[in-house]
Amino acid sequence: MTATLEPDVTSSAPNSQGYCEFTLGQFQFRRDEYFAYVDWPTGSHIMSVDAFLRALQRDVAWDFFYGTVNFDGVIGTVNHYGTVDLFAGRYNDAYRKAELDYTENVETSLIRETFKEMLDDWTNATFDPFASPHETGSAFGIKNGNNRPAITRHRVAAARMVAVPGDEGLRSDDTGHPINRMFADVPQDEPEVYPEPGFESEVAAFSLFAYLSRSPVTWNPSVVSVCKISLFCATTEEYILPIIHGNDRVEWFLQLSDEIHWEVEDRDSGSVRARVVMRPGDVCAMPADIRHQGYAPKRSMLLVWENADPALPELIASGQTPTYPIDF
Ligand code: PHB
Ligand code: FE
Repeated sequence: MTATLEPDVTSSAPNSQGYCEFTLGQFQFRRDEYFAYVDWPTGSHIMSVDAFLRALQRDVAWDFFYGTVNFDGVIGTVNHYGTVDLFAGRYNDAYRKAELDYTENVETSLIRETFKEMLDDWTNATFDPFASPHETGSAFGIKNGNNRPAITRHRVAAARMVAVPGDEGLRSDDTGHPINRMFADVPQDEPEVYPEPGFESEVAAFSLFAYLSRSPVTWNPSVVSVCKISLFCATTEEYILPIIHGNDRVEWFLQLSDEIHWEVEDRDSGSVRARVVMRPGDVCAMPADIRHQGYAPKRSMLLVWENADPALPELIASGQTPTYPIDF
């Protein structure tokens, strides 16, 4: 049986495990106790449902992000900022050669609502897709409630900077942000700021380390300061980045604490290009023609520096701007 819920979302009645099945164009999505299954006209795919939900959560929360969000080596989305490609095997050499790849271009509003409903229906009360594996319960089993507070968390996005009056606030025990178990040694003192009268809304400072030590989520960059199109996106990482991000622009990484291993592949074929191990103080630039996935053995702090210029994807795709950040 097929019913239409929101204006556009097509989903079925619950299956025998209690989960609805979703249709988007010619793609079909269903889950059971352990796995998510994706079907399209030329093929089908299976993923562990915890990994699937962690990837889906990020695609939803980031509204399809910059460029490509690969859920794994087979399925994912490409953001065209107004429409989204939903693909299977498109960026996988073997699928391409076998002509089994398949792509549909859909309105952002339709895929957004479909993915939101799927995330809501498939996430049990015990599972937090943003939490580290150590800090969440199980994603598995038959349908068991929901976890709306976790999957609809406020996304921190400063207009100017965290701690500027009227902008994103500081974190504390009182705001429900205890210090993470792995950051117990991070000093919590804040800078003292004495603006001249009349400049109270212009002069501000905060401790980024204290702020990050209280992040309840992993692999979820928050915009902590903005200068025109230059965004500082800070995040705490633990275990594996749940997506393989295909860039449509250069990104810079500053490793603020601990260690992250990056696997870097060609964006389109998936062939290996580099492994990068980043330790505190290391800085690297990820080119605009790669995809990457990070591995963090312990909770670590990372600053991602993004250029949000909407002209960049076209400038890079047309060769007017290079895929690398700098000429030496
Ligand atoms: C990235 O793809 O550049 C990325 C995504 C999420 C993170 C860190 C980096 O937490
Ligand atoms: Fe990236």
